[in-house]
Amino acid sequence: MREPLVIYGAGGLGKEVLSLVNATDSYEVKGFIDDGISPGTFVKGVRILGGCNELLSFDSPINLALALGSPMSKLDVLKKIDRSKVHFPILRHPSVILQEASAIEIGEGTILCAGSILTTDIRIGSHVLINLKCTIGHGVAIGDTSSLMPGVNIAGEVQVGSSVLIGSGVNIINRVHIGDNSIVGMGSVVLRDVEAGITVAGVPAKPIRK
Ligand SMILES: CC(C)(COP(=O)(O)OP(=O)(O)OC[C@H]1O[C@@H](n2cnc3c(N)ncnc32)[C@H](O)[C@@H]1OP(=O)(O)O)[C@@H](O)C(=O)NCCC(=O)NCCS
Repeated sequence: MREPLVIYGAGGLGKEVLSLVNATDSYEVKGFIDDGISPGTFVKGVRILGGCNELLSFDSPINLALALGSPMSKLDVLKKIDRSKVHFPILRHPSVILQEASAIEIGEGTILCAGSILTTDIRIGSHVLINLKCTIGHGVAIGDTSSLMPGVNIAGEVQVGSSVLIGSGVNIINRVHIGDNSIVGMGSVVLRDVEAGITVAGVPAKPIRK
């Protein structure tokens, strides 16, 4: 039997997570939580249950998926909710390839979207988003609450910090370190380490602002 699940965020990513969950046979989506849409509204046939406060009113623990691309938004929600009442399952589209599953660690609440491929000796933290068609090579580590947008390619031994946002179509060469809370602009090619807290972009990627 499918377990009930609630999705936080009913925007574009929320709709994609709904369709990912519907492609698995593990969970059944019972509703969305969204702070910007009136409770009772339906999004793709699924009811908006309410905003963040609604989560505090549940009596029994619920399965929750954070369909939020921005690391800051994920941290905001995680700060507000009562963690004893929420379980964060790992959600993986059936097409995702874990080439050597026994050598890949994935933390709670991480979402792996269709077409992504992870090879071996990989550590993915909690609440990470690996969007469509990403490739992650040997020895890569990705910190908690980071988000990879569609089509990111990460070569071997790369260390990505926590709460990092990597834009769509980014390519990262082997062995670089991407600091916590940094942003890599879409389409960039990263050839050198990225300092914590800065935004880089371009080919090759260079800082555009602190
Ligand atoms: C990097 C990013 C966060 C910067 O956004 P921003 O802070 O609003 O920056 P701006 O748009 O004001 O741009 C600042 C400068 O950086 C340049 N720049 C911004 N993004 C760039 C990119 N991806 N590649 C190259 N240059 C870029 C701009 O041209 C501008 O240059 P200028 O000062 O010479 O005019 C944003 O452009 C980006 O790439 N976001 C990720 C989007 C994404 O992947 N979405 C996924 C959808 S599924």
